[in-house]
Amino acid sequence: MNNIILIGFMGCGKTSLGIRLSYRIKRTMVDTDKQIEREQEKTISDIFAAYGESAFRDMETAYLRKLLRDKESRIISVGGGLPVQERNHALLHQLGRVIYLRAEADTIYERLKQDTTRPLLQGEDPRGTIEELMLKRAPIYEKAADVIIDVDGKGFEEILNEIEKEVSIR
Ligand code: S3P
Repeated sequence: MNNIILIGFMGCGKTSLGIRLSYRIKRTMVDTDKQIEREQEKTISDIFAAYGESAFRDMETAYLRKLLRDKESRIISVGGGLPVQERNHALLHQLGRVIYLRAEADTIYERLKQDTTRPLLQGEDPRGTIEELMLKRAPIYEKAADVIIDVDGKGFEEILNEIEKEVSIR
């Protein structure tokens, strides 16, 4: 399948870039978090609170399987924790080309310090949590990716140009 899949840490810009890319290259875009929220009729925070993180991880995998049955080539933006499940790597690669939008912990912290929608960052020390999670996740994202794009200090246009070049869809 020929989807373009955007992975990376919370706040790296997957959804914002996915929407812009979708206008640029005229492909539909889906966001796994948004789809799960719609299916469950609950926000991500409410899903975590009601069913726990591991149930949410199962929903993510189930949604990837659903996308595999879909014939349309899309842009797919996935939740930051989705690639952490090894079982999802093969599914991601079957779906298409996996692009890791890599950002520094400082960039993420600046963007998300006021955020209330990410249950994993609502503790006492969001900055410490970002650093800790990033240390654990960065090698996993790298392993899951076909392409890595560094996003720190770059504007949308510059990143979109890089994505377009990488997927040779211009
Ligand atoms: C998560 C990332 C979130 C969302 C959930 C868990 C994570 O998505 O799936 O809060 O574990 O990194 P975004 O990466 O779109 O913020």
